[in-house]
Amino acid sequence: MVWKRTISAKALEKAKYASVKVEDKVIFMANIKGKLYAMDAVCSHARCILGQLDEEKLTVKCFCHHAVFDLNTGNMLEPPYVAPDAPKEKLGLKTYQIRDNSGWIEVDV
Ligand code: FES
Repeated sequence: MVWKRTISAKALEKAKYASVKVEDKVIFMANIKGKLYAMDAVCSHARCILGQLDEEKLTVKCFCHHAVFDLNTGNMLEPPYVAPDAPKEKLGLKTYQIRDNSGWIEVDV
């Protein structure tokens, strides 16, 4: 495990979600009702940065072509509208372990 410090836990709690560069990755992190989530923030379709969080469904939609990803698993739930036959099972995103360590959000990269 390689835990990397990102932003303060208070900042993430206030913002609810953020995309943060961690080494060579950009990671989407969320704090939803006190539970932390982390997955790749770069869309597997055409590399846009994800961003539209649905707190109830625990999904994140890509701004570019509206692919939808499961925040728990990283699985693509809905393909991009420009590629409706895209192989969803191959386009999932990596998820990461995330923790609050003394007020700092850390991600295991
Ligand atoms: S880049 Fe994300 S759906 Fe196309």
